[in-house]
Amino acid sequence: MAYAAGVDVGSTQTKAVIIDENRKIVSRSLIDTGANVIHAAQHAYDLALDNAGQREVEVEYIIGTGYGRYRVTFGNAQVTEISCHGRGAVHLFPGTRTVVDMGGQDTKAIKVNDTGEIVDFCMNDKCAAGTGRFLGAAAAALDIPLNDLGDTALRYTKPVRISTTCTVFAESEVLSWLGKGKKIEDILWGVHQSIASRSAGLLRRVGIEDQVTFTGGVTRNVAMVRAIEERLETKLNISEDSHYMGAVGAALFALDRILSSRSPRDSVEAKA
Ligand SMILES: Nc1ncnc2c1ncn2[C@@H]1O[C@H](COP(=O)(O)OP(=O)(O)OP(=O)(O)O)[C@@H](O)[C@H]1O
Ligand SMILES: [Mg+2]
Repeated sequence: MAYAAGVDVGSTQTKAVIIDENRKIVSRSLIDTGANVIHAAQHAYDLALDNAGQREVEVEYIIGTGYGRYRVTFGNAQVTEISCHGRGAVHLFPGTRTVVDMGGQDTKAIKVNDTGEIVDFCMNDKCAAGTGRFLGAAAAALDIPLNDLGDTALRYTKPVRISTTCTVFAESEVLSWLGKGKKIEDILWGVHQSIASRSAGLLRRVGIEDQVTFTGGVTRNVAMVRAIEERLETKLNISEDSHYMGAVGAALFALDRILSSRSPRDSVEAKA
């Protein structure tokens, strides 16, 4: 059995995924990227190998993706994260035509065809206002752990309208609402709504076509999922692999290369 791996070195977290030749995920790992990007890539990959447990996993091809993809020094090739998120999303949710990837540093809106190829994309490259970083700044100002953000926000009763579109000012606006006696959950839900509205704007620029698949670490935040669904008036595809979608796509590209390097007869057998 052949195995392929994808290592997604994101600005905030590094994800590694190993798949077998039936495109089944056999192992995953997730760590903070930290300051040493080369080390993060290697560590995440080693953890994924460890997590594969007793299996004799011989990985034949590794693809690096994410902002640190060229730091996957043990990798065989690199593919952009836009391509990897598109490919992973269509693999896990074949009806996907639009992908929204919300990570630690930026948000990307991606339009794909039925094979997962990129038709168009758009990203907030200059401003973090619609991203996990904006959420992180608000969470830090309110002293709420990242894990509790979503559940806390969903307890809102009277949402506060957040007017700043700048991460740098998010903290001071949040604190000023607190000073005016607003409840933490009402402020937080406002923050989520503001981010959802910015990502909807990004999505509209590529054109929103059903089904919409949500990828990246912010998929773990239930309030963000709800806020985007309300804004788009559509259900989002999400699974427990959503945070790993870029690495899943990278592993699928790696498997393509293994299969295409075999003789035609082998490839037919592998697909059968
Ligand atoms: N348990 C969690 N609850 C809520 N949010 C979370 C959780 N885990 C991660 N996140 C969010 O996901 C972000 C990281 O997501 P991801 O791993 O997709 O980012 P990245 O790939 O490093 O960033 P980028 O793609 O922008 O370079 C964190 O900054 C945080 O906002
Ligand atoms: Mg990412």
